Amino acid sequence: MMAVFGRKDEEKLICHSDLGHDELIHVDCVSHVYPDGSLGIHNLCFKVREREIVAVCGGNGSGKSTLLEHLNGLLNPSDGCVSVLGRRVDEKTKKYLWKDVGIVFQRAEDQLFAPTVLDDVMFGPLNMGLSVDEAKKVAMESLKAVGAEELVSKMPNYLSGGQKRLVSIAGVFAMKPKVIAMDEPTSDLDPNHSEIIENIIFEMKNKYGISIVIATHDLDLAARIADRICVVKNGSIIAEGTPAEIFYNEALLEEAGLRKPKIVQIYDEYCQSRGLARMHRPVTLPELAECFREG
Ligand SMILES: Nc1ncnc2c1ncn2[C@@H]1O[C@H](COP(=O)(O)OP(=O)(O)OP(=O)(O)O)[C@@H](O)[C@H]1O
Ligand SMILES: [Mg+2]
Repeated sequence: MMAVFGRKDEEKLICHSDLGHDELIHVDCVSHVYPDGSLGIHNLCFKVREREIVAVCGGNGSGKSTLLEHLNGLLNPSDGCVSVLGRRVDEKTKKYLWKDVGIVFQRAEDQLFAPTVLDDVMFGPLNMGLSVDEAKKVAMESLKAVGAEELVSKMPNYLSGGQKRLVSIAGVFAMKPKVIAMDEPTSDLDPNHSEIIENIIFEMKNKYGISIVIATHDLDLAARIADRICVVKNGSIIAEGTPAEIFYNEALLEEAGLRKPKIVQIYDEYCQSRGLARMHRPVTLPELAECFREG
Protein backbone atom coordinates (compact mmCIF):
# COMPACT_ATOMS: atom_id res chain seq x y z
CA MET A 1 0.00 0.00 0.00
CA MET A 2 1.29 3.46 -0.79
CA ALA A 3 2.19 5.69 2.12
CA VAL A 4 2.61 9.43 1.75
CA PHE A 5 4.00 10.86 4.92
CA GLY A 6 4.23 14.06 6.84
CA ARG A 7 6.88 13.94 9.54
CA LYS A 8 4.56 12.56 12.24
CA ASP A 9 3.10 9.83 10.05
CA GLU A 10 6.55 8.96 8.82
CA GLU A 11 7.72 8.25 12.33
CA LYS A 12 4.61 6.21 12.99
CA LEU A 13 4.69 4.27 9.75
CA ILE A 14 8.35 3.52 9.35
CA CYS A 15 10.60 4.25 12.29
CA HIS A 16 8.58 2.53 14.94
CA SER A 17 7.00 -0.20 12.89
CA ASP A 18 7.71 -3.82 13.88
CA LEU A 19 11.09 -5.07 12.70
CA GLY A 20 10.20 -7.47 9.91
CA HIS A 21 12.07 -10.77 9.88
CA ASP A 22 12.93 -10.17 6.23
CA GLU A 23 14.57 -6.84 6.94
CA LEU A 24 18.22 -6.55 5.89
CA ILE A 25 18.87 -2.86 6.48
CA HIS A 26 17.06 -0.41 8.72
CA VAL A 27 17.87 3.27 8.52
CA ASP A 28 16.17 4.67 11.58
CA CYS A 29 15.45 8.42 11.57
CA VAL A 30 18.92 9.31 10.32
CA SER A 31 20.14 12.84 9.76
CA HIS A 32 23.51 13.71 8.28
CA VAL A 33 25.14 17.11 8.47
CA TYR A 34 28.29 17.53 6.34
CA PRO A 35 31.32 19.24 7.87
CA ASP A 36 30.46 22.53 6.11
CA GLY A 37 27.03 22.50 7.78
CA SER A 38 25.04 21.30 4.72
CA LEU A 39 22.18 18.98 5.54
CA GLY A 40 22.53 15.79 3.47
CA ILE A 41 19.52 13.91 4.85
CA HIS A 42 17.09 14.74 7.59
CA ASN A 43 15.30 12.35 9.94
CA LEU A 44 15.19 9.81 7.13
CA CYS A 45 13.73 6.34 7.65
CA PHE A 46 14.30 3.57 5.12
CA LYS A 47 14.34 -0.21 4.95
CA VAL A 48 15.74 -2.80 2.61
CA ARG A 49 14.00 -6.17 2.69
CA GLU A 50 15.14 -9.54 1.44
CA ARG A 51 15.10 -10.16 -2.31
CA GLU A 52 13.72 -6.81 -3.45
CA ILE A 53 14.66 -4.06 -5.84
CA VAL A 54 13.99 -0.71 -4.24
CA ALA A 55 14.47 2.55 -6.10
CA VAL A 56 15.22 5.75 -4.23
CA CYS A 57 13.97 8.52 -6.52
CA GLY A 58 14.41 12.24 -6.10
CA GLY A 59 15.79 15.33 -7.80
CA ASN A 60 19.38 16.61 -7.71
CA GLY A 61 20.55 17.28 -4.18
CA SER A 62 17.59 15.51 -2.56
CA GLY A 63 19.86 13.20 -0.52
CA LYS A 64 20.01 9.94 -2.51
CA SER A 65 23.80 9.53 -2.47
CA THR A 66 24.02 10.60 1.16
CA LEU A 67 21.50 7.89 2.06
CA LEU A 68 23.35 5.21 0.07
CA GLU A 69 26.66 6.05 1.72
CA HIS A 70 25.08 5.32 5.11
CA LEU A 71 24.15 1.78 4.07
CA ASN A 72 27.70 0.41 4.45
CA GLY A 73 29.08 2.83 7.00
CA LEU A 74 30.91 5.13 4.58
CA LEU A 75 29.11 8.03 6.23
CA ASN A 76 28.10 8.08 9.88
CA PRO A 77 24.75 9.46 10.97
CA SER A 78 24.85 12.78 12.82
CA ASP A 79 21.65 11.58 14.44
CA GLY A 80 19.64 8.31 14.35
CA CYS A 81 21.09 4.88 13.60
CA VAL A 82 21.56 2.29 10.86
CA SER A 83 21.28 -1.47 11.42
CA VAL A 84 22.47 -4.09 8.95
CA LEU A 85 21.34 -7.71 9.39
CA GLY A 86 20.08 -6.80 12.85
CA ARG A 87 23.40 -5.32 14.03
CA ARG A 88 23.75 -1.64 14.73
CA VAL A 89 26.46 -0.08 12.58
CA ASP A 90 29.23 1.41 14.73
CA GLU A 91 32.99 1.80 14.50
CA LYS A 92 33.47 -1.87 15.44
CA THR A 93 30.82 -3.52 13.23
CA LYS A 94 31.35 -1.36 10.16
CA LYS A 95 34.69 -3.01 9.41
CA TYR A 96 32.84 -6.14 8.31
CA LEU A 97 30.00 -4.47 6.46
CA TRP A 98 31.67 -4.57 3.04
CA LYS A 99 30.96 -8.31 2.87
CA ASP A 100 27.22 -7.79 3.27
CA VAL A 101 26.63 -4.47 1.53
CA GLY A 102 28.34 -3.48 -1.72
CA ILE A 103 28.10 0.00 -3.17
CA VAL A 104 28.53 1.14 -6.76
CA PHE A 105 29.35 4.83 -6.48
CA GLN A 106 27.81 7.60 -8.54
CA ARG A 107 31.33 8.60 -9.68
CA ALA A 108 32.82 5.34 -10.96
CA GLU A 109 36.34 6.80 -10.77
CA ASP A 110 35.99 6.82 -6.96
CA GLN A 111 35.62 3.05 -7.04
CA LEU A 112 38.56 1.78 -9.06
CA PHE A 113 42.08 1.76 -7.70
CA ALA A 114 43.99 -1.38 -8.81
CA PRO A 115 46.56 -1.39 -11.66
CA THR A 116 44.37 -3.45 -14.00
CA VAL A 117 40.68 -4.16 -14.37
CA LEU A 118 41.27 -7.82 -13.45
CA ASP A 119 43.12 -6.86 -10.24
CA ASP A 120 40.30 -4.52 -9.36
CA VAL A 121 37.51 -7.06 -9.80
CA MET A 122 39.57 -9.78 -8.05
CA PHE A 123 40.23 -7.59 -5.02
CA GLY A 124 36.94 -8.30 -3.20
CA PRO A 125 36.91 -12.09 -3.80
CA LEU A 126 40.59 -12.33 -2.70
CA ASN A 127 39.75 -10.45 0.49
CA MET A 128 36.92 -12.86 1.12
CA GLY A 129 39.49 -15.65 1.24
CA LEU A 130 39.23 -17.14 -2.25
CA SER A 131 42.43 -18.50 -3.81
CA VAL A 132 43.98 -16.53 -6.68
CA ASP A 133 42.62 -19.01 -9.23
CA GLU A 134 39.13 -18.95 -7.75
CA ALA A 135 39.13 -15.15 -7.49
CA LYS A 136 40.24 -14.88 -11.11
CA LYS A 137 37.46 -17.21 -12.21
CA VAL A 138 34.81 -15.22 -10.31
CA ALA A 139 36.21 -11.93 -11.62
CA MET A 140 36.13 -13.15 -15.23
CA GLU A 141 32.55 -14.41 -14.81
CA SER A 142 31.48 -11.04 -13.38
CA LEU A 143 33.16 -9.08 -16.15
CA LYS A 144 31.50 -11.32 -18.70
CA ALA A 145 28.13 -10.88 -16.99
CA VAL A 146 28.32 -7.09 -17.42
CA GLY A 147 29.57 -7.38 -21.00
CA ALA A 148 33.06 -6.04 -20.20
CA GLU A 149 35.33 -9.06 -20.49
CA GLU A 150 37.40 -7.43 -23.23
CA LEU A 151 38.52 -4.77 -20.72
CA VAL A 152 40.21 -7.29 -18.45
CA SER A 153 43.83 -6.19 -19.00
CA LYS A 154 43.20 -2.45 -19.27
CA MET A 155 44.22 0.17 -16.74
CA PRO A 156 41.11 1.50 -14.99
CA ASN A 157 42.32 5.11 -15.36
CA TYR A 158 42.18 4.87 -19.15
CA LEU A 159 38.63 3.53 -19.36
CA SER A 160 35.70 5.64 -20.56
CA GLY A 161 33.10 6.73 -18.00
CA GLY A 162 30.67 3.99 -19.02
CA GLN A 163 33.39 1.32 -19.03
CA LYS A 164 34.44 2.38 -15.51
CA ARG A 165 30.86 1.97 -14.37
CA LEU A 166 30.62 -1.53 -15.86
CA VAL A 167 33.86 -2.56 -14.13
CA SER A 168 32.64 -1.07 -10.82
CA ILE A 169 29.43 -3.08 -11.08
CA ALA A 170 31.42 -6.24 -11.92
CA GLY A 171 33.64 -5.66 -8.85
CA VAL A 172 30.68 -5.47 -6.50
CA PHE A 173 28.78 -8.29 -8.20
CA ALA A 174 31.85 -10.56 -7.88
CA MET A 175 31.47 -10.48 -4.10
CA LYS A 176 27.77 -11.50 -4.07
CA PRO A 177 26.92 -9.44 -0.98
CA LYS A 178 23.42 -9.57 0.52
CA VAL A 179 22.63 -6.03 -0.62
CA ILE A 180 24.01 -4.02 -3.52
CA ALA A 181 23.38 -0.29 -3.59
CA MET A 182 23.90 1.39 -6.95
CA ASP A 183 24.04 5.12 -7.37
CA GLU A 184 22.70 6.09 -10.81
CA PRO A 185 23.75 2.69 -12.24
CA THR A 186 23.00 3.42 -15.89
CA SER A 187 23.61 7.18 -16.05
CA ASP A 188 26.52 7.02 -18.50
CA LEU A 189 25.80 3.75 -20.28
CA ASP A 190 24.69 3.25 -23.86
CA PRO A 191 21.29 1.54 -24.38
CA ASN A 192 22.86 -1.91 -24.91
CA HIS A 193 24.89 -1.80 -21.72
CA SER A 194 21.98 -0.25 -19.81
CA GLU A 195 19.90 -3.25 -20.81
CA ILE A 196 22.68 -5.64 -19.76
CA ILE A 197 22.84 -3.94 -16.35
CA GLU A 198 19.07 -4.02 -15.97
CA ASN A 199 19.12 -7.74 -16.70
CA ILE A 200 21.93 -8.28 -14.22
CA ILE A 201 19.97 -6.45 -11.56
CA PHE A 202 17.07 -8.89 -12.12
CA GLU A 203 19.47 -11.82 -12.10
CA MET A 204 21.09 -10.64 -8.86
CA LYS A 205 17.67 -10.65 -7.26
CA ASN A 206 16.14 -13.75 -8.84
CA LYS A 207 19.15 -16.06 -9.12
CA TYR A 208 21.31 -14.95 -6.19
CA GLY A 209 18.61 -13.54 -3.85
CA ILE A 210 20.51 -10.24 -3.57
CA SER A 211 18.52 -7.12 -2.68
CA ILE A 212 19.27 -4.09 -4.80
CA VAL A 213 18.92 -0.43 -3.92
CA ILE A 214 19.08 1.99 -6.81
CA ALA A 215 19.37 5.74 -6.39
CA THR A 216 18.13 7.43 -9.52
CA HIS A 217 16.26 10.28 -11.08
CA ASP A 218 15.61 8.07 -14.11
CA LEU A 219 12.00 7.19 -13.44
CA ASP A 220 11.75 5.11 -16.63
CA LEU A 221 14.40 2.79 -15.22
CA ALA A 222 12.76 2.73 -11.79
CA ALA A 223 9.37 1.92 -13.34
CA ARG A 224 10.85 -1.00 -15.28
CA ILE A 225 12.76 -2.68 -12.51
CA ALA A 226 11.69 -1.65 -9.00
CA ASP A 227 9.40 -3.57 -6.67
CA ARG A 228 9.17 -0.53 -4.42
CA ILE A 229 9.81 3.16 -4.90
CA CYS A 230 10.85 5.58 -2.17
CA VAL A 231 10.52 9.26 -3.06
CA VAL A 232 13.08 11.61 -1.50
CA LYS A 233 12.75 15.34 -1.16
CA ASN A 234 14.93 17.71 0.88
CA GLY A 235 16.67 14.81 2.59
CA SER A 236 13.56 12.93 3.71
CA ILE A 237 11.46 10.15 2.24
CA ILE A 238 8.08 11.70 1.54
CA ALA A 239 6.31 8.63 0.08
CA GLU A 240 6.78 4.97 -0.73
CA GLY A 241 4.78 2.45 -2.70
CA THR A 242 4.70 0.32 -5.82
CA PRO A 243 5.71 1.97 -9.12
CA ALA A 244 2.03 2.13 -10.17
CA GLU A 245 1.04 3.80 -6.89
CA ILE A 246 3.83 6.37 -7.05
CA PHE A 247 3.94 7.14 -10.76
CA TYR A 248 0.19 7.71 -11.14
CA ASN A 249 0.19 10.20 -8.26
CA GLU A 250 0.65 13.46 -10.15
CA ALA A 251 0.53 15.71 -7.08
CA LEU A 252 3.28 13.68 -5.42
CA LEU A 253 5.54 13.75 -8.49
CA GLU A 254 5.07 17.48 -8.78
CA GLU A 255 5.87 17.97 -5.10
CA ALA A 256 9.04 15.93 -5.49
CA GLY A 257 10.03 17.77 -8.69
CA LEU A 258 9.88 14.56 -10.75
CA ARG A 259 8.43 13.96 -14.21
CA LYS A 260 6.15 11.07 -15.07
CA PRO A 261 7.89 8.06 -16.66
CA LYS A 262 7.42 7.86 -20.45
CA ILE A 263 5.08 4.87 -20.24
CA VAL A 264 2.78 6.84 -17.94
CA GLN A 265 2.93 9.87 -20.27
CA ILE A 266 2.02 7.71 -23.27
CA TYR A 267 -0.86 6.03 -21.45
CA ASP A 268 -2.19 9.41 -20.28
CA GLU A 269 -1.97 10.79 -23.82
CA TYR A 270 -3.68 7.68 -25.22
CA CYS A 271 -6.57 7.91 -22.72
CA GLN A 272 -6.97 11.66 -23.25
CA SER A 273 -6.94 11.49 -27.04
CA ARG A 274 -9.64 8.80 -26.99
CA GLY A 275 -11.68 10.34 -24.18
CA LEU A 276 -11.11 7.23 -22.07
CA ALA A 277 -10.96 7.08 -18.30
CA ARG A 278 -7.63 5.83 -16.90
CA MET A 279 -8.75 2.28 -16.09
CA HIS A 280 -5.27 0.83 -15.58
CA ARG A 281 -1.87 1.96 -14.32
CA PRO A 282 0.71 0.50 -16.71
CA VAL A 283 4.35 1.26 -15.84
CA THR A 284 6.18 -1.16 -18.15
CA LEU A 285 6.08 -1.66 -21.92
CA PRO A 286 4.33 -5.08 -21.73
CA GLU A 287 1.70 -3.61 -19.38
CA LEU A 288 1.13 -0.69 -21.77
CA ALA A 289 0.85 -3.05 -24.76
CA GLU A 290 -1.78 -5.03 -22.84
CA CYS A 291 -3.81 -1.82 -22.29
CA PHE A 292 -3.64 -1.04 -26.03
CA ARG A 293 -4.81 -4.57 -26.84
CA GLU A 294 -7.78 -4.17 -24.54
CA GLY A 295 -8.58 -0.82 -26.20
N1 LIG B 1 30.60 16.36 0.69
C1 LIG B 1 29.61 17.21 0.87
N2 LIG B 1 29.80 18.35 1.58
C2 LIG B 1 28.80 19.23 1.77
N3 LIG B 1 27.54 19.06 1.31
C3 LIG B 1 27.30 17.96 0.60
C4 LIG B 1 28.31 16.97 0.33
N4 LIG B 1 27.76 15.97 -0.41
C5 LIG B 1 26.47 16.32 -0.59
N5 LIG B 1 26.18 17.50 0.01
C6 LIG B 1 24.88 18.18 0.05
O1 LIG B 1 23.93 17.28 0.60
C7 LIG B 1 22.69 17.38 -0.09
C8 LIG B 1 22.32 16.00 -0.65
O2 LIG B 1 23.28 15.66 -1.63
P1 LIG B 1 23.31 14.24 -2.34
O3 LIG B 1 24.59 14.16 -3.08
O4 LIG B 1 23.01 13.20 -1.35
O5 LIG B 1 22.07 14.39 -3.35
P2 LIG B 1 21.61 13.44 -4.54
O6 LIG B 1 20.13 13.22 -4.36
O7 LIG B 1 22.48 12.26 -4.62
O8 LIG B 1 21.81 14.40 -5.80
P3 LIG B 1 22.22 14.02 -7.35
O9 LIG B 1 20.96 13.54 -8.01
O10 LIG B 1 22.65 15.34 -7.91
O11 LIG B 1 23.31 13.00 -7.33
C9 LIG B 1 22.87 18.45 -1.17
O12 LIG B 1 22.35 19.65 -0.69
C10 LIG B 1 24.37 18.53 -1.34
O13 LIG B 1 24.78 19.83 -1.70
MG1 LIG C 1 23.78 11.55 -6.02
